[in-house]
Amino acid sequence: MPNPESKYTRTLAALGVTSAEQVSILFTELHEFFDADISKDALQILWKEFRDKWIGRKSGVLTLATDNWLKPAPPELKRAVGAELNKLKSHVEAKLEEKRLEIERAEQQTASAKERVDLSLPGVPRPVGSHHLIRQVFQEIEDIFFSIGFSVVEGPEIETPYYNFEALNIPEFHPVRDDMDTFYLELPKGAPGPLLLRTHTSPVQIRTMEKRQPPVRVIVPGKVYRRDNPDATHSFMFHQIEGLAVDADITFCDFTGTIDYFVKQFFGAGVKTRFRPSYFPFTEPSVEFDASCIFCGGSGTAKTGGTCGKCKGAGWIELFGAGMVDPAVYGFVNYDPKKVSGFAFGIGIDRLAMLKYGIDDIQVFFQNDVRFLKQFP
Ligand code: FA5
Repeated sequence: MPNPESKYTRTLAALGVTSAEQVSILFTELHEFFDADISKDALQILWKEFRDKWIGRKSGVLTLATDNWLKPAPPELKRAVGAELNKLKSHVEAKLEEKRLEIERAEQQTASAKERVDLSLPGVPRPVGSHHLIRQVFQEIEDIFFSIGFSVVEGPEIETPYYNFEALNIPEFHPVRDDMDTFYLELPKGAPGPLLLRTHTSPVQIRTMEKRQPPVRVIVPGKVYRRDNPDATHSFMFHQIEGLAVDADITFCDFTGTIDYFVKQFFGAGVKTRFRPSYFPFTEPSVEFDASCIFCGGSGTAKTGGTCGKCKGAGWIELFGAGMVDPAVYGFVNYDPKKVSGFAFGIGIDRLAMLKYGIDDIQVFFQNDVRFLKQFP
């Protein structure tokens, strides 16, 4: 393709063009040069330069052809040059507009391709969690008690000494308070207090009886706190389920029968229960419930021979404390101790879960190690 660049910067006279045929040949060359130029790749990057090269007002090819060919053309060629120039101008303008639209379309396509969401791509996998073993045990126990007519109530973890101690028949300076040392809240000056983190779920016994008249049959799951140093069986925060049943004629037999039912449902029908005398200021009589050892079947001998390591040969494992509600407690909630009777129990959930699932360190419940958590999906 001849480059006619050298030509449109010179006049027709300088080019030796003297006839209409030569004018037509000259414009045909320029026409072909434009068509070749506009078909080049990568025009979209150099689009402005390209437009200026052809239709730029000062030094575009069409301006130069007008200035050098048309304006100084001899009168006999002016008409032919004018006609050819107009033809070329229309062609160039039409093609430029066509190209501009093509470039715009291509740009839009690239942009929308970038934004397009590929719905066929696999999604980001989100691991599904599960309930913590403590929550699972709570639910298991709740279901057992639901089946015999108990319902769930909850109470505050921040308590007053009245609900945590006094109304449970534990006056100030009672030695039992030593076992239940706890955390007291730092309160602003003048604020009513003191307030403490509850040491057991038993305060909810009082809160429930204050609000309801017998018959009462509730369980109270929740967190409790004590100033205990952490070791394999102690944590400063742990979990309990309180149970309380009060009605007109609840007997000690109802009490032990209920506990026996619960233990058999939880550990298995073959497990036996027994109770031993104990002491809690808010129950009278108070007992400690044991279950026959779930590991050696109560024999005291390990399956592999030798003494069972879990019950240390006793055949029994201590479970939790309980008792008949002390009549003194009814005085704090305006129940008539001559008309009502009932029982209460307080189960340490963490130690119960350890027993059932063979866990030998309470701390694993609170370390959130997924290798542990995944064993209880
Ligand atoms: C009580 O807390 C009584 N409120 C239970 C009760 C309720 C008795 C109703 C009678 C009637 P005790 O202090 O024994 O009792 O605690 C109950 C259970 O909590 C224990 O058997 C044990 O399983 C658990 N426990 C106590 N201290 C800790 C601790 N630091 N870490 C983990 N578990 C504990």
